[in-house]
Amino acid sequence: MASKLFPALPRAGRQLTHHLPKSQCRLFSAGPQLFSESLAVHRNNPNNNPSIPFKFSEQNLKLIDEILKRYPPQYKKAAVMPLLDLGQRQFGWTSISVMNEVARLLEMPPMRVYEVATFYTMYNREPVGKYFVQICTTTPCQLGGCGSTKIVEAITEHLGITPGHTTDDGLFTFVEVECLGACVNAPMVQINDDYYEDLTPESMKTLLTALKESSTASSGKTVQVPAPGPMTGRHSCENSAKLTNLTDVPEWDPEVMMRKDGALDHPQQ
Ligand code: FES
Repeated sequence: MASKLFPALPRAGRQLTHHLPKSQCRLFSAGPQLFSESLAVHRNNPNNNPSIPFKFSEQNLKLIDEILKRYPPQYKKAAVMPLLDLGQRQFGWTSISVMNEVARLLEMPPMRVYEVATFYTMYNREPVGKYFVQICTTTPCQLGGCGSTKIVEAITEHLGITPGHTTDDGLFTFVEVECLGACVNAPMVQINDDYYEDLTPESMKTLLTALKESSTASSGKTVQVPAPGPMTGRHSCENSAKLTNLTDVPEWDPEVMMRKDGALDHPQQ
């Protein structure tokens, strides 16, 4: 039935649009096809295959012991996320070998670990640069301050890469992400574990330059890298125009501020 009906639909549509005035006809257009493969599928390659050994360091094994104490022994697979995170921090990214080692330690089927690692975009399943630059381009960051579009342009121009790519020297990987929860200080980026907020194209470029110089500086030379947080001198998310209301409240004085006994007229019972 369906196979007989569907061929008729385009013809019916053409007949319908044929009778409409030209100004009311609009053609459908499709954007480039997006494949989910890169997000959810693993294919063995020379840099990422199960024969590449991975073991947690002694220090991380101690941390794993601590993490596992938080869960009843029969539910230790609940520790899959912190262990994947630990593996990513040690190895630099979450390779198939990291996932397999986590599965072995937690005595769970590797597929269950793959499901978690492919669901959460915070697990990088491809190598990333030393500095992982995540720019928030969600609406508040697009509208706040100079807007995240200008920051994206500044990063692209400065690093010479577009989102989703890594610089040739392996120092920077640049990606676009959704809200990182610091909307009040928009626009902002997360670089590794740090937030840099209230950005302008100039402060963004200054930051990238400082990070690059700090990692390529010869030993003994120290490079001042801007501290994480708001880049405008704000301490946190207070009003940058300083205090604008409640400015005339007199200094606290109990004699003045406290109501005197009997000052209120109590309504008669
Ligand atoms: S929208 Fe950018 S941090 Fe929330």
